[in-house]
Amino acid sequence: MPEHVLTPPDPSLYDQLAAGTAPPIAEPVSVVIFGGAGDLAHRKLLPALYNLHLDGLLPPRVAITGVGRKSMTDDDYREFARTGIESFSRRPIDSHAWPTFAANLFWASASIDGSLASLGARLDVVEHERGLPGDRLYYLAVPPSLFVPTVQQLDRARFIVKGTARPAARIVVEKPIGHDLESARTINDAIAQVFDEHQVYRIDHYLGKETVQNILVLRFANSIFEPLFNQKYIDHVQVTVAEAEGVGNRAGYYESAGALRDMVQNHLLQLLCLVAMEPPRSLDADVIRDEKLEVLQSLRPLHGEDVDASTVRGRYEAGFVMGQPVPGYREESGVDPASRTETFVALRLWIDNWRWAGVPFFLRTGKRLPKRASEISVHLKEVPPILFNRNPGTRLDPNILSIRIQPDEGFALGISSKIPGPRVRVYPVQMDFHYGSTFGASSPEAYERLLLDVMAGDQTLFMRRDQVEAAWQWVMPILDRWASDSTASIPTYAAGEWGPPEADQLIRAMGREWKAP
Ligand code: BG6
Repeated sequence: MPEHVLTPPDPSLYDQLAAGTAPPIAEPVSVVIFGGAGDLAHRKLLPALYNLHLDGLLPPRVAITGVGRKSMTDDDYREFARTGIESFSRRPIDSHAWPTFAANLFWASASIDGSLASLGARLDVVEHERGLPGDRLYYLAVPPSLFVPTVQQLDRARFIVKGTARPAARIVVEKPIGHDLESARTINDAIAQVFDEHQVYRIDHYLGKETVQNILVLRFANSIFEPLFNQKYIDHVQVTVAEAEGVGNRAGYYESAGALRDMVQNHLLQLLCLVAMEPPRSLDADVIRDEKLEVLQSLRPLHGEDVDASTVRGRYEAGFVMGQPVPGYREESGVDPASRTETFVALRLWIDNWRWAGVPFFLRTGKRLPKRASEISVHLKEVPPILFNRNPGTRLDPNILSIRIQPDEGFALGISSKIPGPRVRVYPVQMDFHYGSTFGASSPEAYERLLLDVMAGDQTLFMRRDQVEAAWQWVMPILDRWASDSTASIPTYAAGEWGPPEADQLIRAMGREWKAP
């Protein structure tokens, strides 16, 4: 770990904090949010920072400065934050905690088309008044097209000290990192001109979810599962990330993205990495990230006709979700009526390494599916067709480990049990764990954990440059194949169904069925 990090470089700092065994983060920091008056800041970042404040996890001296074109006073910005917190925070405004939090909030009008000199002057004043040494965290909550210009402007305005000198700077960027491999490299190159990799935090918010972090704990803190996680015992693995929502007001972005870029290239492949990776030798950020990279690099490339045989895309049409009528994707506001953007993807893939040889992985994600539910299910092989599993007409259900990412967080293990009584009758039962009933309080939001980790200088839950590019590399032939034939029909599904029938055929062709989460 470099010496210039803002706080002690302890990877388990958050856990110590949560357990009350570590002092709160003491290093002062100035958080600068580009796009400070945008949707992400309103819905996620400011509520997350507020919740960290409630838990006493923010450094005692901190400034949070929103930056944007709008002309606003600090008080206006505090009001903007308040409305965001009222609507989107997991905990309500507390009349004692709010004033001390609000006092940390500032607004600076600036445009990255112009010079950032006045922003620099404003930050200097804010930091001087609050006794902050100038260590800054720049959060780019702006559209991806502004990543490169913003980074270049920060450089031009001499805001950034590269390397280990003080004051230290960190940068946080949101997905999507690029539109394809080439544009991802362009963004990463531009960032690397100005920041060292250890100063860069690429967010995949799925990695901040409690249940996602628990995958490693489940696998490596229990001796029951890890010996089974390989081709000898596992029949196949499914990852489903289902959304009931449609495209909402994000058509401008989504039309040029689609489900493969929006969800698979990042969130689903990250989940896959956590399920499939080898045990890391330590919890060090780069050791974990190296193991995840290995998985991405072991994915069997899909080319040409392999793409047709291994992928299904779909687009929702009008239908009903939770009893409510909803329009089709092409009828959504801002969507081209002849759009070819996919709102659903199902994939079959293989990990060509010793552990997973011959085990198919099935991934699917989509909008306007019957409900919001994300789950990873690990399907064990059937027991031999003898003893209790001898009758071909009444085969036993294979054991399934279901890791429920959201919304009903927890996991379940399906096992066979004898029904009480004089006869031997076997019935599938569930051993079920629910976060809600076991741990009570609501889990921290992903952004709380992620922002805390950026402040603490822990990169474990962030995507390294090579991971992002390896994921794009695997996804590119699929995108290229789909783009190569602009007349190929795209299967459709009625909103409220589990994708097009082709997705069922994809898995049935392998003798398996999707498991409803
Ligand atoms: C985002 C995607 O990354 O993740 C959205 O851009 C999607 O399209 C969202 O809706 C899903 O996140 P979550 O946390 O609600 O599952």
